[in-house]
Amino acid sequence: MTAPLRQGELAEPIVVKVALGARAYDIVIGRGLLAGLGARIAALRPGAKTAIVTDATVAKHHLVAAEAALEAAGIDSSAIVVGEGEGSKSYATFETVCETIIAANIERGDLIVALGGGVIGDLAGYAAASVRRGLDFVQVPTTLLAQVDSSVGGKTGINSRHGKNLVGAFHQPILVIADTALLDTLPPREFRAGYAEVAKYGLLGDAAFFAWLEANWQDVFTGGKSSATMAREHAIAVCCRGKAGVVARDERETGERALLNLGHTFGHALEAGAGFSGRLLHGEAVALGMVLAFEFSARKGLIGEADAARARAHLAAVGLPTHLKQVPGGVPGLDALMDLIAQDKKVKRGKLTFILVRGIGQAFVENDVDAAEVRAFLADKLFEK
Ligand SMILES: NC(=O)c1ccc[n+]([C@@H]2O[C@H](COP(=O)([O-])OP(=O)(O)OC[C@H]3O[C@@H](n4cnc5c(N)ncnc54)[C@H](O)[C@@H]3O)[C@@H](O)[C@H]2O)c1
Ligand SMILES: [Zn+2]
Repeated sequence: MTAPLRQGELAEPIVVKVALGARAYDIVIGRGLLAGLGARIAALRPGAKTAIVTDATVAKHHLVAAEAALEAAGIDSSAIVVGEGEGSKSYATFETVCETIIAANIERGDLIVALGGGVIGDLAGYAAASVRRGLDFVQVPTTLLAQVDSSVGGKTGINSRHGKNLVGAFHQPILVIADTALLDTLPPREFRAGYAEVAKYGLLGDAAFFAWLEANWQDVFTGGKSSATMAREHAIAVCCRGKAGVVARDERETGERALLNLGHTFGHALEAGAGFSGRLLHGEAVALGMVLAFEFSARKGLIGEADAARARAHLAAVGLPTHLKQVPGGVPGLDALMDLIAQDKKVKRGKLTFILVRGIGQAFVENDVDAAEVRAFLADKLFEK
């Protein structure tokens, strides 16, 4: 018999195991899980103190509930609230977070709780990796992007003036709690941008999941608010299982993990072109990048036009941008775009590495892409009506 549901909580949570030997951990996915955060932490680390790292917006919506959940389990917590946005992945904020953790007497055996989106996960995770040469940490991702992507896999870090994520460490959390109800306060545009990464898992390696998304994406967006299905939880679990599998086989990105970059070479160039501003969110750039990766694959004869059209149609149906002309303020010119692509992925003797596709769900790494061919392709795209 299953226990009665607490208010706001849907059926049994889904548990995805990340198989990394001594560093193995669970990703627990379900609606209303935040209330049980303290009990889960107490079971893993009895007697540990915690410091919650979060940003101002997430704090406004969810910090009180997180603190109450810890207190209910008798866990001491202090809160470190940083400014919201990418700007917090900086040396200055990293210093503040580390110094505050030390001042709060968080020691080995204690825990950092990262309550927020990918920015907080990366920043708090890196602080956890660094203070006292490594503290354990728990991820409580609050954006769709963080629940399906950044909270899984152990990459943590901050930005350098030379580029994003250039300073960091691999540091796996000991637990990830993905409470899908936290996404109800997320602005629709952020949810949609995170959904690009959800669609990515289907497009890169799981055609059946992509077909399921085409039929069920509306339920993923509505979630439990007005839908009794577990579509949102199911979608997040499929993505986490996909990423966890890849990470377990290739933790440090020497091979297969690169497939997760589908759409990201074109995407990063567009994101950088927009100055990493609110003009183009990461997920929106990835949606455009995936469409370009499919269309480039079609141009190379690897797939038929129909597959590229299908990928584009789904991303457009959920409201993501799929044409370069949809980028507010426009995109860089051809030379600038090619420069940005070359910066992102090193060019070796005029050859670039791209993630291409042999069909929906069949991505592969191509190390031998001719830069001139990419240029000709983008030239056509830039003039497309
Ligand atoms: N470590 C990895 O493997 C990995 C993978 C992908 C992306 N990332 C990183 O993730 C970052 C992007 O993450 P993101 O898109 O989650 O951005 P984010 O953390 O900046 O969150 C986006 C915005 O949503 C707000 N927000 C977060 N949760 C909310 C909620 N529940 N309700 C209302 N507002 C909420 C935040 O305050 C912020 O303004 C980038 O820095 C990227 O480099 C890391
Ligand atoms: Zn991404």
